[in-house]
Amino acid sequence: MQDDSATPRFLVLNGPNLNLLGRREPATYGTLTLDAIVARLEARARALGCTLIFAQSNHEGALIDHLHAQIDVVAGAIFNPGGYTHTSVALHDAVRAVPYPVIEVHLSNVHAREEFRHRSLIAPAARGQIVGLGVYGYLAALETLMGLTTDA
Ligand code: DQA
Repeated sequence: MQDDSATPRFLVLNGPNLNLLGRREPATYGTLTLDAIVARLEARARALGCTLIFAQSNHEGALIDHLHAQIDVVAGAIFNPGGYTHTSVALHDAVRAVPYPVIEVHLSNVHAREEFRHRSLIAPAARGQIVGLGVYGYLAALETLMGLTTDA
């Protein structure tokens, strides 16, 4: 049995409406459900030797609480803030406030969509941003957090 206390832990946090993945605008977001994305990440985490904590909320304050709750627990986070990306000063502040690196991920290429999606309030506070690669963006973010953690 693996000793989880020795392996890096990361938070995977998804924001509003992402609980509907698979049924929500599949032409834009694909047909994978959030559970399927979680399963892909779990499999990659096992191969990489890290542990993941998953959370999803449709509420801005709850997303902030999830980021705060992991302050002493995780070495990094993958965060898809959904529509709050484009509006939330409070989430920008929360990402700045936590000591661990946060990688912002979007399934769709927000830059190829409506103009209001081109600006991210999260990006200036994030360690980096990955857009438009679907589930592969989450997997790339995970590989990156693992690299940042083990190289440190
Ligand atoms: C999204 C892009 C956002 O603009 C949108 O509001 C979402 C999903 C994405 O993953 O592509 O809810 O974050």
